Amino acid sequence: MKKDLISIRDLTADEIESIFKLTDELKKDPSEFDKHLAFKSIALIFQKPSNRTRVSFEVGMYQLGGNSIYLSPEEINLGVRESIKDVAKTLSRYVDGLVLRTFEHKNVLELAKFATVPVINGLSDFSHPCQALADVYTVREKLKNIKKATLAYVGDGNNVCNSLLYLCPKAGLNIHIGTPKGYEPCNVVLKEAKAMAHTTGTSVKLFNNPAEAVKAADVIYTDVWASMGQEKEAEKRKKIFKAFQVNKKLVKSAGKKVLIMHCLPAHRGMEITDEVIDGPGSIVFDQAENRMHVQKAILIKLLG
Ligand code: CP
Ligand code: NVA
Repeated sequence: MKKDLISIRDLTADEIESIFKLTDELKKDPSEFDKHLAFKSIALIFQKPSNRTRVSFEVGMYQLGGNSIYLSPEEINLGVRESIKDVAKTLSRYVDGLVLRTFEHKNVLELAKFATVPVINGLSDFSHPCQALADVYTVREKLKNIKKATLAYVGDGNNVCNSLLYLCPKAGLNIHIGTPKGYEPCNVVLKEAKAMAHTTGTSVKLFNNPAEAVKAADVIYTDVWASMGQEKEAEKRKKIFKAFQVNKKLVKSAGKKVLIMHCLPAHRGMEITDEVIDGPGSIVFDQAENRMHVQKAILIKLLG
């Protein structure tokens, strides 16, 4: 049966560890894998802009000996020019995997339902699983022992936050979240993450105070205050999120040496200051690079 990557929720701790182990091998000797996906192709259906996701999938697929086809919003016009069902059925006859970047999460589910090839969620309004996998992989690379380390996510309880919430407790990391009131992550995700944390002995905590959220953290993570599709709310959100900016003062509140993460693109001077994102603790570009290595592992697992 074909396997998709729609949400971190669907992955077991063992599957996650196996993706990370394969990523280690891919990073060590990329040339050893240069024919793993020979003659295979993926289609990238993107309804939103992208730098990292598109380029890392395309280059990653090339490095594995395969091919990728980018389909811009205008090209496929998903659900408008053609139904998601018909797009899924048609593309499944040509390619070996689909990556979808979309708005409503149900679009990913619909595509996966009708595609006969693996579907990878390349970001929906609800989740960003490839991002979270690359993030935790990066933390695992940087900290000698991630078990019981604490990642503090500060800002909007968005797609990236939801995916980190699903992943951290499964990977043995504590996750502390600081958002303004009314901008907390999805309640269902929070509940499930807490249940998972209970079984792995980790903690999931929610704060409405950024300094409390980052206290004793090993990693501080932030993302944009207005995600793609929320552009109209950007001005309003600027005021609401002001106190949640990751700046020198907030970083100091951690009370120890801390790693700085951001999924990018960053709005410098808004959710994060230049001196923090360019500062000594910042690992944002290692994080960005790892998108490609981790996704190569995902591609091999699903299409290989
Ligand atoms: N982090 C991330 O997904 O970046 P892009 O939106 O540029 O793909
Ligand atoms: N939360 C952001 C992530 C971008 C990679 C967005 O959805 O726009």
